[in-house]
Amino acid sequence: MRIASGRRLKGTCSVPGDKSISHRAALIAALAEGVSTVENFSTAADCAATLSCLSALGVVVEKDGTMVRINGTKLHQPHEPLNCGNSGSTMRMMAGLLAAEKFECTLAGDASLSARPMNRIVEPLEMMGARFRSDNGCPPLTIHGSDRLSAIEYQLPVPSAQVKTALLLAGLRAHGRTVITEAVRTRDHTERMLKWFGVLVETEDGPGSAVTAINRGARVTGAKLKIPGDFSSAAYFIAAAAMLPGSEIEVGNVGLNPTRTQFIDVLRSFGADIETADIRDECNEPVGTIRVRGRTLQHGPSNVIEGELSAALIDELPLLGVVGTQVPGGLTVKDAGELRVKETDRIGATVKNLRAMGATIEEFADGFSIPGPVRLDGATIQTYGDHRIAMAFSVAALLAHGESEINGAASVAVSFPDFFARLESLLER
Ligand code: S3P
Repeated sequence: MRIASGRRLKGTCSVPGDKSISHRAALIAALAEGVSTVENFSTAADCAATLSCLSALGVVVEKDGTMVRINGTKLHQPHEPLNCGNSGSTMRMMAGLLAAEKFECTLAGDASLSARPMNRIVEPLEMMGARFRSDNGCPPLTIHGSDRLSAIEYQLPVPSAQVKTALLLAGLRAHGRTVITEAVRTRDHTERMLKWFGVLVETEDGPGSAVTAINRGARVTGAKLKIPGDFSSAAYFIAAAAMLPGSEIEVGNVGLNPTRTQFIDVLRSFGADIETADIRDECNEPVGTIRVRGRTLQHGPSNVIEGELSAALIDELPLLGVVGTQVPGGLTVKDAGELRVKETDRIGATVKNLRAMGATIEEFADGFSIPGPVRLDGATIQTYGDHRIAMAFSVAALLAHGESEINGAASVAVSFPDFFARLESLLER
C-alpha cells in the first residue's frame, strides 16, 4: 500500500463495531439460554475467529452481514483444535469459558499468537480447578475443564481486561464468589455486558484498586445487542485529522466508554480540537459522535505517558508515538512493557519505523522517548503483520514529506478490514 503525504481529511465516516465488545457479546450469548441478536458485530478477522470457535463447540451462529444471531447451548467437545488465528482475546477469553466444561480441547493460533504468554490465564484458572498443558506457557494450549470449579480471590499481576474477562466467565460457573482486584483499572466491557444479560456483577472503585465480584449460577438469558463503533479504530482518523491543519471530520456512533477514550484527553492536552456530542447509552455502553478539526499541536502540561495512563492507552501507544513527532517537547512513553508481547513487539516496531522515517527516538525496555516536533520523511514501513502498526504508520505517512509504502498492509483485516477504503474516502482530492 502506497500513501502520499500532504492531504487533509474532510467529511463523515463510521468505523466497524467494537472488537472487544463483539468478542464478549459472542461468548456471553453462547452461554445464555435462548437466542441473542447482535447488531453491528465487528467485521474484524479476530471476531470471526471467536465465532468460528463457538461454531466448532456446537453453538449455532448465523451471520447476515454485521447482524449475528447466536443460539446459546451446552458446549460439545470439538473434533479438532480451535483456531484462534491472530486473536489473543479469543484464546484468553475462550479459556475462561472452557475452564468450566468437562472435556479436553486445544486452543491454537498463528505464528504471532503462538509466541504470546498464556500463563496469565493458566495460573488463576488452574487455581479454580481447570488443568492446562502447553510448551513454556505459549500456545497451543490444551485445556481440561471441570464442572466443579471453585471461586478464587485474585489480584491481577498484569493489568489485563482479557484475563479479568476469562476469570469472570469462569467465575459465573464456579462454586462461590469470584473476586478480582486490579491495581490498574482496565476496560470494563465484560462487566457492562454481563449486566445487560441480567447477571449481577459488583464493581467497586477504591483508592489504588478496583474490585469486581461475581457469584456462581446467575441465569444468563439471551438478549438483543447493538455494538458501538470501535473507538480504537476511530483513533487513527481522529489523530490524522487533529494533526493535519484544515482537516474537519465527524465519526458517528462511536463507543465512548471512559476506560477506552483517554486518547482524546491526551490529544486535547496538546491543544487538539476534538468535541464529543450526542452522547447516549446503548446496551450499557456510552455512544456518541466525535468531531475533529485539524491544527498544529502545542506543548502540553505533561509530555510523559506512564503508570495507569499507559495501561489505559495500551492499544493507542504506537499511534501516540507517531503523534509525539508533532508535539513540541516530544513525548515519552514508560511503563508499557506489555507492548512487547502484543501481536508483535510494538515498542520495537514503533521505534524502527519512526527511525526509518528520519526521527531520532530512544528505546527503553518499557517504552520510548521521541523529541518533537520532528520532520518525518516518506519511507518503507514494516508492519511485522501487526494491524495497529499498519494503521499507526499510515497516519505517519500522511504527515511525512514524500510517499511511503506500507509492507504487510493487509494485516489491517485483523481489526478493520475497510481501513484503507475509509481513509481514502476521507482524504481530500
Ligand atoms: C482487550 C484488552 C487488551 C487490548 C486488546 C483487547 C480486550 O489486552 O490490548 O487489544 O478486549 O479485553 P490485554 O487485556 O491483554 O491488555
